[in-house]
Amino acid sequence: MAPKRLESDIDTTTRPRPPKRARIAQGGLPEEPVSSGANVLSQLWDRTLSKLEKLRDELAACYNEISDSPKHKLDDSRWHKLLYEVDGIFNGERCGAWSSIGTLPRSSCGEGSEPFGVADVWYMSMEELEGFCNAANPRPLDRPIVVPGQMSEKKGLRNIRLWLEKLHDRHANSSIDTQNYAGKSTSTGTKRIPTTKLHQSIETALGQQDRTITNERLPLNGLNLRDILDESIPEVLKLHRFGLLSSLLARGESGGILDMPAYTDSSAGKHRLRKPQDDVTNCRTFNLFAQRGSWSGPHTDVLGGTWVHNLGGYKAWYYVPNPTDEELQEYQRDGASWSPAEGRQKCIMLCPGDYLFMMPGCRVIHSPLTVEDCLMTGGMFWDDRAIPAILGHLAWVAQYPYVSNEPFPSEMPYVLETLKRFVKDTKDKQRFGVEPGLKAGKDFEKEVDRFVERIKELVKCKCGTGGCKKGCPCLEAGRACSPWCVSHAKGSGSMECRETK
Ligand SMILES: [Fe+2]
Ligand SMILES: [Zn+2]
Ligand SMILES: [Zn+2]
Repeated sequence: MAPKRLESDIDTTTRPRPPKRARIAQGGLPEEPVSSGANVLSQLWDRTLSKLEKLRDELAACYNEISDSPKHKLDDSRWHKLLYEVDGIFNGERCGAWSSIGTLPRSSCGEGSEPFGVADVWYMSMEELEGFCNAANPRPLDRPIVVPGQMSEKKGLRNIRLWLEKLHDRHANSSIDTQNYAGKSTSTGTKRIPTTKLHQSIETALGQQDRTITNERLPLNGLNLRDILDESIPEVLKLHRFGLLSSLLARGESGGILDMPAYTDSSAGKHRLRKPQDDVTNCRTFNLFAQRGSWSGPHTDVLGGTWVHNLGGYKAWYYVPNPTDEELQEYQRDGASWSPAEGRQKCIMLCPGDYLFMMPGCRVIHSPLTVEDCLMTGGMFWDDRAIPAILGHLAWVAQYPYVSNEPFPSEMPYVLETLKRFVKDTKDKQRFGVEPGLKAGKDFEKEVDRFVERIKELVKCKCGTGGCKKGCPCLEAGRACSPWCVSHAKGSGSMECRETK
C-alpha cells in the first residue's frame, strides 16, 4: 500500500469538509447529551462557571467605561479591542459555547458529554492516554486532549509564589516581554519591562482578595518566558514516538548535516534576539504566566505540537474545532484579528493540575483567556506518526505568516534537512505509520523530500551575496537567512540578513 498521502494544507479547495456535528444549543449545551446525569462537562460547569461569569462582568464594565467616555485614553487601544472580542465569545447562557467532551468507555474521568468519535476534545487519564498512543494500530490524534489533574487552588497559589521567587533569583537583573494592552489597536503590542517590576505587580495582586480588573490596572501577560520550573515532561511524551523533535535537535547539535551556529542568551525571555537556534530549541520547554483578563487572539503554534500543564489558576482555552474552508481563508487573511462567527470558539476550561495536549499536525486555532492568574509550564513536541501533517502545518505557516503568532523559525531549515536524513536512515518505516514494504518506505521518503522542498521554496531568499534587498522574505519576516537562501547555498557565511542601501 502506498504511504498515507501528505495532507495538502495549502490547497484548501481539495480538503474534505468537516463532518456534520450535532447542533450546539445556545449556551453550549449539546443537544443530545449521552446522559442527563452528571458528565465531565456538567461537573466542569458546576466548578468553574461562576469564575467565568465574574470575569465577563468585570470586562464588560471596563468596555462600557471606555465606550461611554468620549475621550478615554484607552479608546482604540489593544485593550479596547480585546474587550470587544472577548465580549463576542461570551454570548449565551453559559458564557458562550463550551467544547463537548468525549471519554473512553469506563474511563476513570467519568462520562463524556458526547460520544467519543464526535466530541470536540477528549478527556483521558495519563494512563489511558499512554495506552491509547501505544496501541498496535493507534487512531489519529486529531483533536485536543485534556488530562485532568487533581491540584487544589491553594497548591496552585504556592506554585505561582515559587515561580516568582525563582524568577527573582535567576533573572532579577533582566527584563521580560509583556503584552502591551495599552498600545494602539494597530500596534504590534509588546512591551519590555524589568523583571523586578513584573515580580512586584504580580506579588501585590496575589495578596489582594477579590481584586477586580479595571482600566487603570490592566492585566500583565508575560511572553516567551524561559522555563525555570524544572518540571519533568508529561509521562506520555516519554513514549518513543514523541521523541522526534528532540532527536532531530540533538543530531543537529552534535554536528548533523548542517552545523547550527552556537549562540547563548542570558535574558529571561526565550528570544531576546532572533538567532537560528533560539526558535526551536528554546521553545521545547517554556513557562506561561498571565493575570486574569489576559487574552491572545486566534493563532496556531508554529511547530504544531504543544503541551501545557496548568500549575495554578484557571485558563479558558478557546479554540475553533474543524474550521471550514471559508473560515480558514478568513483566518489566513486576518490572523489574530480574525473574529470567528458567534459560538464557533469553544471553551476548554483548564483547571489547576490539568494537562492540555495540542497534537502535532492537528490544526488547533486557539485563543487563551486567563480566568484567574495562571501559571503554566509547557513545551513543543513532534510525533513519528504525524510527519506528513507536521510538514503540512509548517508549509501553511510559511505561506501564511499571520496564522501563527511566531515567525517561521530560522532554525527550521537545519531541522528539516536533518529530518530528511533521519527518515532515510530509519529502516523500520512502520514507526512512521507506513505500511510494510520497500516501495512504501521509498515513497514515504520521497514525499518527505518533496514537502521539505516545498517549504524551502516558500522560505528561502534569492538575494545573493550582495545582501538582502527590499522584498526579501527573510527580511520581511524579520528572521535570519538560512543555508537555504541562495547567498548561503553551501551553508557558509553570515546568517544575518543585511539590507543593502
Ligand atoms: Fe499558542
Ligand atoms: Zn534575502
Ligand atoms: Zn535569506
